[in-house]
Parts: sequence; C-alpha cells; structure tokens
Amino acid sequence: MKSQLINVAVVGAGAFGRHHARVYRQLADEAEAVRLIGVVDTNTERADSVAREFGCRAFGSVENLLSTYGETNAATIAVPTVHHSAVARNLMAAGVDVLIEKPIAASLSESDELIHLAAQHARIAQAGHLERFNPAIRGTVPLVTEPMFFEVHRLSVFSPRSLDVDVVLDLMIHDLDVVISFVKSPIREIRAVGLPILSPKIDIANVRLEFESGCVANLTASRVSTERVRKLRFFQPQQYISVDYSRQEVLVFSIDADGKNPGTPSANPQIKVFKPPIVTEEPLHAELKSFIHAVRERSEPIVSLVEGKRALEAALAVVAAINQHGSKVRLDSLHAGD
Ligand SMILES: NC(=O)c1ccc[n+]([C@@H]2O[C@H](COP(=O)([O-])OP(=O)(O)OC[C@H]3O[C@@H](n4cnc5c(N)ncnc54)[C@H](O)[C@@H]3O)[C@@H](O)[C@H]2O)c1
Repeated sequence: MKSQLINVAVVGAGAFGRHHARVYRQLADEAEAVRLIGVVDTNTERADSVAREFGCRAFGSVENLLSTYGETNAATIAVPTVHHSAVARNLMAAGVDVLIEKPIAASLSESDELIHLAAQHARIAQAGHLERFNPAIRGTVPLVTEPMFFEVHRLSVFSPRSLDVDVVLDLMIHDLDVVISFVKSPIREIRAVGLPILSPKIDIANVRLEFESGCVANLTASRVSTERVRKLRFFQPQQYISVDYSRQEVLVFSIDADGKNPGTPSANPQIKVFKPPIVTEEPLHAELKSFIHAVRERSEPIVSLVEGKRALEAALAVVAAINQHGSKVRLDSLHAGD
C-alpha cells in the first residue's frame, strides 16, 4: 500500500468527529496520500453538514458507507464511547483499520474484545490519546530518566459537553495515559477525591497515584474552573521539567554537578535552564498523520489499544477510589443537606 491513496472515513460527525474530518481534509490538501471519502452519523443532518463542509459524502450508517465504498481503508471512530465497540467491530470485520477515540471503550471487557478483534482481523488499531502527539510531550519523551514526582493540572471552564461521563474519563484520562507512559511501572496505590459541582457526575477530581517504582503522581482535573490550565511538571534526579500542553513549551531545570558528587549540598548550586526547541503542530494533525503512516506501513501505532486499555483501567480505578472516599465521608448525605 506504500504510495497508494488511503481512503478514510469518520464515523460520528459530532463535536470532535468534525475536527477529524477537517484534519483529514487538511492532510489531503497538503498532498498526503489520503482521501476523505465520507462521514457517517446516525444524525443525517449532522453528517450532511460536515460532509458539505469538507467535500465528501454523507452516510447514515457504517453499512451504507461500506456498501458504497468497499475500498474504505481506515476510519476514525468518534461516536459516544458506549458505541465505540459496536462500530469498531463492524469496521474491523470489514477489513478497515481504526483510530478509536479515547476512552477506547466503556469497559475493560469491551477493550479486551477490541484488542482481540484487531489481532483476529490483522487490523491497525490506534487509541485516540491525542496528547501523546502534542509536540511538547513528544519533545519531553527523550528527556525522561527516572521520574519520581509529578504535579499535573488540567483545568477547564465549564461547558455543557461530555457531561455523561465523569471528569476523570473526560479529561484526566489524557494525563493518566501520559504519566503512565513516562513512569513505566505498575500502579501500587490510588487515593482520590472528587465531587459533582455543576453536573450529576464528578466535575472536579484529585488523585495521588503511587507506583511500584516509588514515583508519586498528583493529578487534578476540573471542568468547573475559572481558568484553562494544561500543565504537567515532574522531578527526576537532578532535574525538574515543566510542560505546558497548551503553549507547547517545555522548560528543563538541571543542577549543574560541576564535578561535585550529585546530591552534595552546595551553598551556591548552579541551575541550568534549557528550553528544548519545539516545532509546534496541532496535536490532532500529528495524530492523524501518524495513524495514516501506521496504516500505510502496517506498523504498530504509537498508541496501541493495549495502552488505551491501560489508561481506561487507571481511570476506572480512580473513579472507584473517589466513590470509596465519597462513601467513607458520606458525601451523599452532605449533598442532601443532612
Ligand atoms: N481526544 C480528545 O481530546 C477528545 C475530545 C472530545 C471528545 N473525544 C471523544 O470523541 C468521542 C465523541 O465525542 P464528541 O464530543 O464528538 O460527541 P458528540 O456527542 O458531539 O458526537 C457524537 C456523534 O456520534 C453520532 N452517533 C452516535 N451513535 C452513532 C453510531 N452508532 N453511528 C454513527 N454515528 C453515531 C451522534 O449522532 C453524534 O453526532 C467520545 O468518545 C469522546 O470521548 C475525544
């Protein structure tokens, strides 16, 4: 398939699916060997409107797409999470490679089924963990040595979207995935607190993860903040690294050992500040380009479904820890005004 045009479709033309259609179209305009052939949405008005905007055909179901375009090579799945596995099953059985938005599925058993189906049908299947493609994260990966402490904030102002899921599965899962990929050690303990504020689901959450390696990560996610923050900071021996996802900036503060033994107290420690050069790029552009590359080369995607399942597993464990804490301090009764 090396130089062959890859025919892609987007299933689910809602808020995020529209962006996938926009970026596939942009990649085609940039002379990538990719063609956006259609968007699929059970809401046909929505499908029509996005198809018109990005110059492709609209379909009301995956079956209609496949009967019209038997040569569909790849598709983004951006339907609500509860429908991911049914849509992915249809597409993979028909020989279509898939990029499944995060969280990859509604449960761990559905995630296992997707992993199994991808292997059975020999499909390229990527998990839509967008922040792994953020140039600031890609620029940080080679700097990671032995992270021991993370402080992560992902705060958003309130908007009435994705309120069917807790903020942990909506926002925090991005950072769980990044932190787990940096630490490369199993999680040993989870302590968490979370509260519903403006919706019936958890709107603000804080978790303390302790890994087998001894690393501790403190993550806060909120969708009821007065400001938008996307920051990940971590400490590792002789170094502090600060990542701003939004500005796509990385700052590295290193102690200059200056011939002395590392860790030896010094009255005048020399701190070197380094700002790695980052070439900014829309993360979705980088993600879809990488997916198309994996489809063309039949190579392992940068974020596999196994990693998607791992992030989901951690997110579900955080929700369980929040519920456990909530029942211990009787949050329900506090809410009821008891
Ligand atoms: N990676 C990210 O940063 C990010 C950001 C936002 C959303 N998401 C994920 O993307 C997915 C979609 O989120 P959204 O905010 O765009 O939701 P949305 O509700 O705006 O859009 C979903 C669309 O899917 C359509 N749909 C439902 N069932 C369908 C089916 N069986 N076949 C075809 N179309 C169907 C709906 O009509 C709707 O238009 C979710 O899994 C969400 O978690 C990821």
